Amino acid sequence: MKDLLAELRSLERFLKIKPLYFDFESLEFVWLDTRLIPFKEVYRRTRDYRRVAEAIRSMEIRGAPAIGVSAGFGLALAALESKSSDVDALLNDLEHARRLLASTRPTAFNLFWALDRVMRRAYDEASRGGVDGVINGVLEEALRIYVEDVKANIEMGRIGSRLIEDGQTVLTHCNTGALATAGFGTALGVVRYAWYEGKRVSVITTETRPVLQGARLNVWELRREGIPVKLIVDSAVAITLARGMADLVLVGADRIVMTGHTANKIGTLQVALAARHASKPFYVVAPTSTFQRTWNPEEIVIEERSPDEVRTVMGQTYITLEDVEVYNPSFDVTPPELVTAFITEKGIVEKPFERNIPLILGV
Ligand code: MRU
Repeated sequence: MKDLLAELRSLERFLKIKPLYFDFESLEFVWLDTRLIPFKEVYRRTRDYRRVAEAIRSMEIRGAPAIGVSAGFGLALAALESKSSDVDALLNDLEHARRLLASTRPTAFNLFWALDRVMRRAYDEASRGGVDGVINGVLEEALRIYVEDVKANIEMGRIGSRLIEDGQTVLTHCNTGALATAGFGTALGVVRYAWYEGKRVSVITTETRPVLQGARLNVWELRREGIPVKLIVDSAVAITLARGMADLVLVGADRIVMTGHTANKIGTLQVALAARHASKPFYVVAPTSTFQRTWNPEEIVIEERSPDEVRTVMGQTYITLEDVEVYNPSFDVTPPELVTAFITEKGIVEKPFERNIPLILGV
């Protein structure tokens, strides 16, 4: 645990925005409530894994890597809370917490990946010893996932920055910055890294209706760094790219399967189609924890959220009749033929994806 904390401290300069962390003094999980950004910066804290599940469900915490990391800490809180004095009862409590955390958001693969990983550690520790070993193991595994995510983001930034030339403009959709991860960001991490290298990069972000991750979170993050940012409505993507106002597209992913089919924020498929129409490169930036080891894109579950997200602006003002029928898928799937390449912490994955994705994952 000490080594991990020391490693984290060495990465501190990359963590200008701290979206979430574990407070080892109070044994609380702490997160920035992204629903309130850009108008208020409020940190919330809890010792209750049920509250972590609620924060993920209500999108106080969102973005696939951030969801995964938080769920890992959720299990750690469940282990610390358990009063069970025998290992089987503790594992039972953990399974109960795992089920609740897994029910929060169905598309983000990092959620299931992190829960599986922490539970595997719990069972490993249980086979070796007692309750304390399981509790410490679960907390350490959650912390390891957190530190690995920060490192993966910085590495993706370093690798992806090679694709950005001085003076270029990146178009992006949804928030993939520090606020979507353990820190630093994926697609926005690439922009951030290029900026730290002294490249004069600028960003065009969509609003990203209905939750406005672009208008609220990207604008807030980029302004804090001093990176120039321009906001467009989602439907302006095609004209923006066709007019050559952006040089490349960088987006993140919630789930990528072995064929290269990529689930990401609703509207990503339209962005990819517009990029193809305008002959602009379309890159997906995601850590290997976002890749599901299946060849079947049909296994991707698309979350559908409340109709009121569409009927209102952020639950505040109605912009239509209160009872209008709504279809509100939160994600769509971009087929591999529209993806130029994937940028992962292990390197850039080019076509043919069905050969190169398994290679980079080592499967
Ligand atoms: O609904 P959200 O805000 O959780 O959706 C987030 C996205 O679609 C992101 O692009 C994706 O999770 C990658 S975040 C690094």
